[in-house]
Amino acid sequence: MSKNNDELFKNVISHTKEYGFVFPSSEIYDGLSAVYDYGQLGAELKNNIKTYWWKSMVQLNENIVGLDSAIFMHPKIWKASGHVDGFADPMIDNKDSKKRYRADNLIEDKIARYAKDGKTDKANKLQSDMDAALGADNLPALKALIEEHEIVCPVSGTRNWTDVRQFNLMFSTQMGAMAEDSDQVYLRPETAQGIFVNFLNVQKSGRMRIPFGIAQIGKAFRNEVIARQFIMRMREFEQMEMQFFVKPGTEMEWYQHWKEARLKWHLAVGTTPDKYRFHDHVKLAHYANAAVDIEFEFPFGFKEVEGIHSRTDFDLSQHEKFSGKKLQYFDTVENKNYVPYVIETSIGLDRMFLLTLCNAYEEQDLSTDDKQDSRTVLRLHPCLAPVKAAILPLTKKDGLPEKGREIMDALKLDFNLQYDEKDSIGKRYRRQDAIGTPFCITIDHQTLEDNTVTIRHRDSMEQERVSSDKLESIIGNLVSW
Ligand code: GAP
Repeated sequence: MSKNNDELFKNVISHTKEYGFVFPSSEIYDGLSAVYDYGQLGAELKNNIKTYWWKSMVQLNENIVGLDSAIFMHPKIWKASGHVDGFADPMIDNKDSKKRYRADNLIEDKIARYAKDGKTDKANKLQSDMDAALGADNLPALKALIEEHEIVCPVSGTRNWTDVRQFNLMFSTQMGAMAEDSDQVYLRPETAQGIFVNFLNVQKSGRMRIPFGIAQIGKAFRNEVIARQFIMRMREFEQMEMQFFVKPGTEMEWYQHWKEARLKWHLAVGTTPDKYRFHDHVKLAHYANAAVDIEFEFPFGFKEVEGIHSRTDFDLSQHEKFSGKKLQYFDTVENKNYVPYVIETSIGLDRMFLLTLCNAYEEQDLSTDDKQDSRTVLRLHPCLAPVKAAILPLTKKDGLPEKGREIMDALKLDFNLQYDEKDSIGKRYRRQDAIGTPFCITIDHQTLEDNTVTIRHRDSMEQERVSSDKLESIIGNLVSW
């Protein structure tokens, strides 16, 4: 990360705290690592991202329906899905600092250092050696790479490493009063399994015909050993996942379709295409026959935000095997039963939240020859902005606050608004810029005479005078989906 980007990211993090987007969890008890709370504006922004996803996936696709399955599920589900045996990260400990690291993260950092120092060949070679070792689950080979490239512990600075071991990422707890092995349940590490085990319930009760999808938004939990980059890697996070059930043999067509459709979804909220790239998986997860990440260029580099996975019939077949129940679809066109294949789209809500903030955050120098000036602005897409408009009476007297309240009452059922009468109008504009409010509506003495207000646009900072009767349609045109 260059110094500039490093500083920029630090500023984004402190901005989110200062304005009530994200707080460290349990802060008065010194926090809980890799767990965060969303504040008053964060909750709004998060809800808006969820609504955008839900509308475009569920409401706009007649063949996709929603689901809200429980976080606790029968423990056999995680045996069937492969998570009990295979959902693990390769970890290594430094014997001097007693710190534990993901072996692949240590190697990635080294690759980044080689690349930064212009040693491109070394970086590429290490990348492909690491991919090969991960692909073959070859833990000694990972250790050998760490030794060969003289990777040191960031804390102790030494190379006194243990062997690389697998560390399961699932949290477990006990259900019921008796703490016996048989009562052990897991906090789900992905929402997808809730969809798979409800596949026939939804298909039959909704009379769904293949191809069709089931979408779900919900919490997932992973005991990530390394907390990285703020809300990028959390222990409790939210996923927005959709499983699309297709006829076997058509999965690659649908894989391509969802790859393109999902990128379009990202670009439609104001991000430029050069900030995105696809990254094909070299190491495929145990369930996939093709997989790609949609990566976004964060201040700390290109990182995964969403995965599109062709999961074959792996999950449904496994659940058939472990539950003893048939999970087949009767295709009336083909006149036969089969286990459908699945294309999954899986996006982390918290990563999308961070992406949205990083993309919107701008420190602008507005100085002119006469005076120094600057502002921090969140150039959020109006649909995603937590507050759609601010109602700002120019002064606290002469009936302007009352008029402001009257305008606010007429609009507040349709839009999330803020009322603010404190400080100079300039300071109030800056406060709204900092939280990404697309419109500031100022009520002045002329408003009392002719019912017009000024509306100030966040990005251009231009103002226009309009009749207050038109506010609903002006704001609605820009902030509605
Ligand atoms: N059902 C497939 C699945 O869970 P994944 O690639 O492990 O696939 C999907 O996760 C998405 O969930 C990722 O692209 C990322 O956005 C998000 N995600 C995964 N682990 C996360 C974590 N620890 N913190 C925040 N988001 C996470």
